[in-house]
Amino acid sequence: MSMRLRLAMQEVLRDPQVAPRKLQSTWARLWLPLAGLSPAGRMAARLATWFAPPYKARRWFADVHPRGFVSPRAAICHRGLRLGLHVFIGDDVTIIQMDGGGPVEIGDKASVWGDALLETGERGGITIGPESRINLGVHLISYVAPIRIGRDVGIGEGSALFSYNHGIAPGRPYMEQPLQSKGPIVIDDHAWVGLGSIVLDGVRIGKGAIVGAGSVVTRDVPDGAIAVGVPARVVGMRGEPSWTAAAPPSWSRTDA
Ligand SMILES: CC(C)(COP(=O)(O)OP(=O)(O)OC[C@H]1O[C@@H](n2cnc3c(N)ncnc32)[C@H](O)[C@@H]1OP(=O)(O)O)[C@@H](O)C(=O)NCCC(=O)NCCS
Repeated sequence: MSMRLRLAMQEVLRDPQVAPRKLQSTWARLWLPLAGLSPAGRMAARLATWFAPPYKARRWFADVHPRGFVSPRAAICHRGLRLGLHVFIGDDVTIIQMDGGGPVEIGDKASVWGDALLETGERGGITIGPESRINLGVHLISYVAPIRIGRDVGIGEGSALFSYNHGIAPGRPYMEQPLQSKGPIVIDDHAWVGLGSIVLDGVRIGKGAIVGAGSVVTRDVPDGAIAVGVPARVVGMRGEPSWTAAAPPSWSRTDA
């Protein structure tokens, strides 16, 4: 038994009010350095979660080791997945590569929370910049054109970004028509997409822009603008941005 675990157990005996949390964290810290995407690494991740509270109370798991933390309940089925340092992937996240799908790159200290779906197929690809937050139940589906999310971007719970459309020419069922796209979806640095929003193909949401909850974004949103509604219209500007030009997104690691 490691010295740290023994010390924590001693503390339980001394002060049962405080010690259980310490024991939880000591237990997790035993396994987290071994956690990763290999079968043994996933087993270590499972053991680390044994006594841990759920959801955001586990974000610190990703800070313990540069390899970050991928929940043992996440379904990872993607050969082109590249994780930066200290990335957090939550419970029941699905990352899947369908035929012809390009890479999924997730930058340093980014978080992908539970039940999110990241899917690439047919020349699509997904980039999530450093420190960005993909919240519960978000769908990022990239076929034909990429989805590029910048640095420190928030995508609200239940939002969906689709970079393609089905062909809808008359006379043939839409499922028999080739996929098409007006172009990439780009969400620039520091932007915030409110919960339950939909962003369609070919749209750029500018630096520091805000999209109100429940919006459907069909056209570009300028830097610093506030856009709301269905379809989303600009209702205000946030004024001169106080942030300076951020460094380009970085991916410090290419393996998992
Ligand atoms: C977009 C938002 C930031 C604007 O906040 P605000 O600047 O305080 O805006 P106001 O409340 O003054 O509203 C301005 C106008 O836009 C309308 N509006 C605001 N948010 C709206 C929305 N999501 N959809 C439609 N209209 C909206 C208001 O009704 C108001 O219209 P009016 O001038 O005709 O009365 C906020 O309304 C919002 O949607 N936040 C997202 C919340 C969220 O997603 N939280 C989850 C965290 S990830």
